[in-house]
Amino acid sequence: MKTIALTVMAIALTSAWSYAAAPTHDYVGVTVCKMCHQTAKNGEQFQKWQASKHAQAYKTLLTPEAQKIAEAKGIKGKASEAKECLECHETAYDAPASQLGPKFNKEDGVQCETCHGPGKDYMKMDIMKDRAKAVANGLTLLSVSDGSAQKFCETCHNKKSPTFKEFDFKKMWAQIAHPVPQK
Ligand code: HEC
Ligand code: HEC
Ligand code: HEC
Ligand code: HEC
Repeated sequence: MKTIALTVMAIALTSAWSYAAAPTHDYVGVTVCKMCHQTAKNGEQFQKWQASKHAQAYKTLLTPEAQKIAEAKGIKGKASEAKECLECHETAYDAPASQLGPKFNKEDGVQCETCHGPGKDYMKMDIMKDRAKAVANGLTLLSVSDGSAQKFCETCHNKKSPTFKEFDFKKMWAQIAHPVPQK
């Protein structure tokens, strides 16, 4: 009896462990993506992101307006340090510091890796050029046409946002689209 109980426990522990050890990838920061994603030929994804409000999402939390919103919600301390705000205004807000590379900067707000996954293991040229390999190394490919992109946007663009009014996906996507030009 005791052996069985111990075996069951061991299995339970092993599966809990393997869950926790599921492959994780480190964040590298948007300046690393910029190296290859800033040319006109590739579609200037970096510049398009930089001109978007996502690039300001963290800095917004430093404004008096944000502080007022936080106080109204009963948050003690700074909005820019509150989990209740950072979860949507920063990339990797809950990742341990050990997973943030030297170029990662939380002040970059909602950057590429929020939507495409932490880049350390897929950012190398030979992997990036092979879609299947990139995905196996942590690249998240959302799609506008199958609805997965909209679903992902709505994990932040929803009523939990204190300033939320509505989310019109088509209009909002048009503001941040960053396609690779057709050859
Ligand atoms: C060393 C150069 C390089 C770096 C660094 C790099 N990429 Fe790429 N990336 C590429 C190339 C090349 C492609 C293929 C483009 C094409 O198909 O025309 C690509 C494709 C992509 C795609 C489209 C994949 C597909 O199959 O549709 C995404 C998304 C992407 N990169 C995101 C990122 C993100 C996010 C970062 C930073 C974490 C990053 N890349 C860093 C070179 C790079
Ligand atoms: C991690 C959370 C998060 C995700 C995911 C996210 N956003 Fe955002 N988005 C924000 C935040 C925060 C702001 C406000 C930034 C600011 O003004 O400081 C914002 C602002 C915007 C704006 C500017 C709105 C304005 O008032 O000018 C657009 C457009 C936008 N997002 C589109 C999208 C789309 C499209 C998607 C999905 C493909 C998406 N967002 C996914 C957090 C997110
Ligand atoms: C569920 C995700 C989410 C949470 C949590 C969240 N925000 Fe936001 N925030 C957004 C999004 C998305 C936008 C842009 C569109 C909108 O207003 O819904 C935004 C916009 C803002 C803006 C307006 C920026 C502008 O350009 O006018 C301020 C200020 C702001 N948030 C402050 C806060 C503060 C302070 C907190 C914490 C108390 C917080 N947010 C929590 C998602 C969130
Ligand atoms: C708010 C989420 C979001 C952010 C931030 C974001 N992307 Fe994307 N990206 C997407 C979505 C969604 C798609 C898929 C578009 C589609 O289905 O047409 C995409 C597509 C791409 C593609 C492929 C385009 C094509 O035509 O094949 C590349 C390359 C890319 N992103 C790179 C980047 C880089 C580099 C950054 C940062 C500088 C970035 N993205 C920031 C959501 C995002």
